[in-house]
Parts: sequence; structure tokens; C-alpha cells
Amino acid sequence: MRFLVPAVVLVAVVSAQNDHCAVISGQTWVTPAQVRECYRSFAVNETEKANIIEVINKTLSFHTSVSYEVQAPWPYSDTHEDILADLARISSQTYASDYDLHVDLSLTVKRLHDGHCVWVNYCYDSAFVNYLPIPLVLLNGTDVHIALEAYNVSSVEFAEVIPVWERALIGTLDSGLQKLNGAKVLKIDDQDPFSAVNANADIAGGFQAYGTRQNGFFSSYQRSTASWSYVLGNFAQQSLPLSDSVELSVQLVNGTTANVVLPYLSRISSSTVNFTSADTYRSGNCLAVVGTNGVNYYESTLSSTLADPLVKAQQVPGQAVERSRALNIMLDSAPASDIALPTQLQPVNPVVGFGEGQFYLLDDGVTGVLALGSFSGNSYDVMMQGLLDGLVELRSRGAQRLVVDLTNNGGGYICGAHFLHRIIIGPTSTTEPQAGLNTTARDPELARQVVQTIVDSSGTVDPNTILLYNPLGWHDIHNEQFNITDNWLVPPVAKVINRRSDAFSQTLGSECPPAEYTTPPPDEGLFDGSQVLIHSGDRCASSCSLFSVTMAKLEGSKTVVVGGKNDVDQKFCGVVGGQSTDFSTIDSEIKTTGLKSNSRAPPDLLVNGVQGITWRLGYGIWNPSEPEEWQDRPADYNLPLTLDLANNPTKIWDKVASLVF
Ligand SMILES: *[C@@H]1O[C@H](CO)[C@@H](O)[C@H](O)[C@H]1NC(C)=O
Ligand SMILES: *[C@@H]1O[C@H](CO)[C@@H](O)[C@H](O)[C@H]1NC(C)=O
Ligand SMILES: *[C@@H]1O[C@H](CO)[C@@H](O)[C@H](O)[C@H]1NC(C)=O
Ligand SMILES: *[C@@H]1O[C@H](CO)[C@@H](O)[C@H](O)[C@H]1NC(C)=O
Ligand SMILES: *[C@@H]1O[C@H](CO)[C@@H](O)[C@H](O)[C@H]1NC(C)=O
Ligand SMILES: *[C@@H]1O[C@H](CO)[C@@H](O)[C@H](O)[C@H]1NC(C)=O
Ligand SMILES: *[C@@H]1O[C@H](CO)[C@@H](O)[C@H](O)[C@H]1NC(C)=O
Ligand SMILES: *[C@@H]1O[C@H](CO)[C@@H](O)[C@H](O)[C@H]1NC(C)=O
Repeated sequence: MRFLVPAVVLVAVVSAQNDHCAVISGQTWVTPAQVRECYRSFAVNETEKANIIEVINKTLSFHTSVSYEVQAPWPYSDTHEDILADLARISSQTYASDYDLHVDLSLTVKRLHDGHCVWVNYCYDSAFVNYLPIPLVLLNGTDVHIALEAYNVSSVEFAEVIPVWERALIGTLDSGLQKLNGAKVLKIDDQDPFSAVNANADIAGGFQAYGTRQNGFFSSYQRSTASWSYVLGNFAQQSLPLSDSVELSVQLVNGTTANVVLPYLSRISSSTVNFTSADTYRSGNCLAVVGTNGVNYYESTLSSTLADPLVKAQQVPGQAVERSRALNIMLDSAPASDIALPTQLQPVNPVVGFGEGQFYLLDDGVTGVLALGSFSGNSYDVMMQGLLDGLVELRSRGAQRLVVDLTNNGGGYICGAHFLHRIIIGPTSTTEPQAGLNTTARDPELARQVVQTIVDSSGTVDPNTILLYNPLGWHDIHNEQFNITDNWLVPPVAKVINRRSDAFSQTLGSECPPAEYTTPPPDEGLFDGSQVLIHSGDRCASSCSLFSVTMAKLEGSKTVVVGGKNDVDQKFCGVVGGQSTDFSTIDSEIKTTGLKSNSRAPPDLLVNGVQGITWRLGYGIWNPSEPEEWQDRPADYNLPLTLDLANNPTKIWDKVASLVF
């Protein structure tokens, strides 16, 4: 979207001529241009720049996918990012401001299209969030419309600035915000709407599949821990102040056409530390905080929970904090949505539920629905018990088949995904000893030294077996647990990927031994695999993908993507990974084993940042010698949306059930 001078000027309470951050201090809503002026007033600090690049560079040696992402194979071949070369480029490039440096770094890392490997700097990312009151939907596989519920959402969530947007419509569509509900969008900034959709797909990151990145432009929903959330999509919400306004040519539902210009408005996030000046903005929001860096787990009280900066970037509602459980979770520069799905669209009368997991029985009396917004959010034990109780209850009420709605499920506990697969299917060769994928970790020299230090100490550096690299945490391919004497990263398995030499661990087997199922799984399966329909709205990632891939490719479950452009292949999930982690966790592994002074160890990060990585990579079902990450995951069905269906979970469930069963 091009930059236009906003039609409104939000008057600053504090006016400080030369301090562009003072101008916006103490205010909830400001313009994106004002936010940029504040951000751009910080010159690049060469010490911090070098530090950020060194931390990212050295953390990436633990990321499984660096060599693969240089050129991903079909159908993900638009992923071709040589991240190490780009870090070198950024290192030698000069920038007009620290913000410009951040935008380059952020977009560069996003070009990996890997929601596990994301750079977030809370100095800028989502400190102020850029909004429009008109989330979009994609109908009939081709037509861009303003969502029918747009005004219902924005008039509640953005009540105090609705008059600002109404004023912007004076002369073109008087008191017209509500009249835009459902309107067909003919042009965005004077171009075909798909120019804007595709421009966003090029910079959005997060998912390998092009269609999934296109679909992220549009609004969607998610079951959260306590409620149903509305996800605005990348058109109506930006984590950086990239756009000032948008010009739309629309056809209203009554047939009239209009040209409207609406400004983006920028709202301070609830977690942004209040400030009065550029100096206090920076000291409050831009420097490392508790949890930015790792700790020696045995000298810190932070050992049992994940740190706040990381949790904030995780795309799961609620708090996934049990460090002792293996996690696979998407990260994003925008926090998970807490905007409410309008009441009229919320599913009613769940049969039973436990927070992020809700169970329904459709009117046909034989189709059960599990809506699962994440594989964490509640405590692990509550989720395990809740999944079993809910499915058993659906069975007892007559359900013979199951729709699993995983829309926007960004992952969570890995063994939660295995457990759900296991209880649906029962004990079979595909669910025992494991219902997941075989995996390997990357095998850099420093990781081998971390393991060797644990081995040499006979485990005494990690008596509680908290460290990711502790041999006791893993099983070999024959599902034998490693002994404390085993350096499981030795010898490294050499691989050449995209003509680069790389090294991985031996293949690991089951990671969810029976004790990880804190609720004992029943002796018989609850549903036939072929009678399960995975409906993911395609934004299902990490542990959600581990579940969906194994159900679809091993159990014959059907998959459906709702929405999406009709001439673009729709994938039923993405960003499989195997296990995700981040810089601060790797730093804790290094500090706990006393290796921080090693030249390969990343230094402590100076700024308020998070760098995520894929730590283990799962191997494919169709081609077990290559990672699942870059194998095809075509949806069996694609349901085109109508105005009436979009973002209405109950209507979508009825429709997909009648389409597939
Ligand atoms: C640059 O950043 C470092 C580390 O945060 C800080 O100590 C130093 O004061 C900064 N330099 C300037 C000129 O702000
Ligand atoms: C990243 O690390 C590698 C290996 O340590 C080093 O050769 C390279 O110069 C580093 N790149 C940057 C941009 O610092
Ligand atoms: C979508 O297609 C259906 C069936 O062809 C048609 O009735 C409907 O008007 C179309 N909707 C839009 C928004 O174009
Ligand atoms: C929007 O709100 C109006 C008034 O409360 C209500 O009648 C309508 O059903 C709502 N529409 C949606 C899609 O939520
Ligand atoms: C459609 O709605 C617009 C905006 O309220 C109004 O100006 C126009 O007259 C309406 N057109 C018809 C055909 O009803
Ligand atoms: C900033 O100030 C506002 C208004 O006083 C307050 O509601 C908010 O909680 C404060 N934010 C933080 C992070 O302290
Ligand atoms: C894991 O590897 C073993 C040994 O090669 C194989 O038998 C098993 O099928 C693999 N499991 C999966 C889920 O691919
Ligand atoms: C660990 O030691 C036991 C007993 O010596 C042995 O049976 C087992 O195979 C070892 N595990 C691995 C993974 O080698």
C-alpha cells in the first residue's frame, strides 16, 4: 500500500519539537507515520548491530534447515534464501536508522518461510500494531470481499477510533463504515486486489506454501484457551507501521460502487512499556529483558518455565510454559490474537470442552467435531485428559466420524499431537511405539561439546534431565533409550544439501515414551482413520502438522482447506519441523554446561529480541529419507467460501461434513 498523508491528524498531548517519541507518548492511538518517526529517530548502534548479527548467525548453526532453505524443492521452490550470505550483506550495509536495519533483518529472516525460524525485536515488532477496520475474506476462490462481520469486529475492538475512520469516508461514503460489510473489493490502491495479496505473500514469511501465505492476508478464526478469537489477517493488521492508508474501489452489497481511502491507525500494545521520550522508549522497550538470554538452570529460578519474550512470540493462545515437555510451536512477530469472534459467529452448545479444545455434535447426530486451537495453552495434563474425555463423550452420544478443526493451530506439546493420534486410532504399528515422525537434530561442533560435557559429568551437570542435549531424553531408531555414556551426536552423519556440506545426528525414534501420556490411552481406537476429516484452514503448523501429516498419510484421514485462490494448490498444513526452540534455550544449554566462553557460542543478546529455530527435523512418510518439511501436502478437498460461510465455524463444519462424508 502506498503512503498517503492520513486524512486525520491525531493531536499529541505532549509536544516535544525534536523528540519524535515524546510526540506519541501517553497515547493509545497514533498514526503509523508518527510511529515511524519515533522508530527512525534511533541511529544504528554499531555495537548492537554486530551483536544481533552474531547472535542470529551463531544460533542458526543449531537450526536444522539452513542448507535446505537455500533452495527448497518443488512445491516450495519459491523458498530460496541464503540466510548466511544475507547476514553478511546486512553486516556490511549501512542504514538510515536502526528501524530500517530491523525491517531488512526481519524481512530477510521471513524469506526462509519458516515459522520456527523467525527474528522478533520487540523494540519495533508489535510495539505498536497497525490496523484497518475492514478485514477481508476470499470468496469463490477468486473474489476479495470485506468480511460481512467487519464492522461487528471493529466497532467493538476499535470503538474509540471508529469516528476517525468514519470521518475519512466523508464525501465518498458518508457514515459508511458499516455499509462496507460484505462489499466486493474491485481494486486495492488502483490495482487488482491480488497484487496486494501476492505482495504480502512475498514478505509475510511463516509458511512454505505460497497459497498459505496468500491466505494469511485474509481474516480467520481460532479457538483460544477461554474463547473464540478473530484473526484479522495481514491486510487489516501489520506488526510494523509499513502502510499509512489504503485506497479501495468497492462494490457495496446493494450494487453501488465507491472509492474510499482509509488510514491505518496504530495502537500501542498492552505489553509496550510506557515512555515519555526517545530515551525512555528505548530503555523500556529495546534492551534485553529477563528471559532474552539463557541461564544456568541450576543457578536460576527460571528453569521450569519458558521465558516471557519467547512465549509472547508463540502462536498459541495461553501459556505454553512447561519447559520439561518437548514443544513444536510457530513464532510470529505479531502475538496470537485476543480479538473476540463476534457472538453471532461463535459455535454454541459444546458437548464438552477444556479451554482450547471444544467438542460438538452436528445436527446429523453422527458427526462429532473437535475444535482444537492449539496443542498447548492449558496445562499438559488438562489437555491430555480433556482430549480423551471429549472424544469418548462424542462416541457415547453417537458420533461415528470426526471433523477436527485445527484452524490457526500453531502447535504446542509434541506428545499432545502423538497422543491425539494414538487415542483416535488405537494401538497399531503406526501409533506404537510412536505416533510421530523419526527425527534428526543438526550436529554442529558446539552441540557435540554440550553433549560430551553432560556425558563426561555422568549427568551431574543436569541432574534433573532438563537439557535438550541430555542423552537420557532421547531414544535411538530402535526405540532404545540412550545411556548417559552415549554422545548421541557422535559420529555426525554427513549430508550434502544444495551443494553445501552439513551434518546431522543419527536418526531418533520415539520421543513420547508411555510415561509421557499422563492420561493412559484406551486399548481400542475411538474412530476409524478414514472417518476423520482434518479441516485446517491451512494455517496449521508445528505439532499441528505432526498430527495432520501422520493422520492423512498413514491413516487415510481426509483433509480439507477452506478458502484459498482456486488456481493455487492448497496445502493442508505447513512448517512441520520436528521440535522447535530458540536462542535463549540454546544459550541455557551452553551456560548450564559451562561452555559460554567457547568461540562458537553466541554472545548474550543486548536487545529485546527472540530468534527461533527448528531444533529437530521430522522425516517424511512418503519419502522417509528426506524431511517431511519439503514434501507435498495437498489437501484432498478445497471448499470455496461464500460471504455467509466465511468465519462461521458451525456452518463450515456442516458444509465440510456434507462435502466429504
Ligand atoms: C550502543 O549500545 C551499547 C549496548 O546496548 C550501549 O552500551 C551503548 O551505550 C550504545 N551506544 C550509543 C552511542 O548509544
Ligand atoms: C557467521 O558465522 C560464520 C562461521 O562462524 C562466519 O564465517 C561468518 O563470517 C559469520 N557471518 C557473519 C555475517 O557474521
Ligand atoms: C459464488 O458462486 C456462487 C455459485 O456460483 C454464486 O451464487 C455466488 O453469487 C458467488 N458469490 C460471489 C460473491 O461471487
Ligand atoms: C453484526 O451485528 C448485528 C447487530 O448486533 C447483528 O444483527 C449481526 O448478526 C452481526 N453480524 C455478524 C456477522 O456477526
Ligand atoms: C446503496 O448504498 C449507498 C450507501 O448507503 C447509497 O448511497 C445508495 O443509494 C444505495 N444504492 C441503492 C441502489 O440502494
Ligand atoms: C501504560 O499506561 C497505560 C495508561 O496509564 C496503562 O493502562 C498501561 O497498563 C501501561 N502499560 C504498561 C506496560 O505499563
Ligand atoms: C522410523 O524408522 C524406522 C526404522 O527405519 C521405520 O521402521 C519406521 O517406520 C520409521 N517411522 C516413521 C514414522 O517413519
Ligand atoms: C543402554 O545400556 C543398556 C544396558 O547396557 C543397553 O541394553 C542399551 O542398548 C543401551 N542403549 C543404547 C541406546 O545403546
